[in-house]
Amino acid sequence: MSDLTVYLENDARRPEFRTADPALMAGHLAHIGILYERWTADAPLPASADADAVQRAYAAPIDRLKAARRFCTADVVRVTPKTDGVEALRAKFLYEHTHAEDEARFFVEGAGAFYIHLDRRVFRVLCGTGDLLSIPAGTPHWFDMGPRPRFTTIRFFSRPEGWMATPTGDTIAARFPLFETEAVEAA
Ligand SMILES: [Fe+2]
Repeated sequence: MSDLTVYLENDARRPEFRTADPALMAGHLAHIGILYERWTADAPLPASADADAVQRAYAAPIDRLKAARRFCTADVVRVTPKTDGVEALRAKFLYEHTHAEDEARFFVEGAGAFYIHLDRRVFRVLCGTGDLLSIPAGTPHWFDMGPRPRFTTIRFFSRPEGWMATPTGDTIAARFPLFETEAVEAA
């Protein structure tokens, strides 16, 4: 269910390009400096898995990415519609911003949409289970977890203070389609 939709930055209604092919997604995103990979767990992951179990199940690709990108730590974040303050949490990243360090996320389960603003285009990456996306420091982007969020991601950090979001001041996020989790759940 993962896909990539590319829009010209001044036309949010008619996508220029769309694909759900993982190799094509990786190729198009690599062209603008974004790392996209599909990962699989080394061992089955029960629904009740805690953060430690999640990290153990994906130990090999986690260690590989840490070494390749010089990330020193990783943690696990789980968000559901019942998470405290979930509306505020959604709003927190629903405007264009940058970070002083790479934003790397691996989706253990669930889904969310990243919107990357580069090359006078918006690249909307709908991430689902098994997707790794790494957005370089300084890249304008926003993230929509949808109105009824449900996802578990592993987050990677090179230095915790770099993770603060810096708004670009551009209101472009308001012009682009929101991520509708209902459509994903029905697929
Ligand atoms: Fe971000």
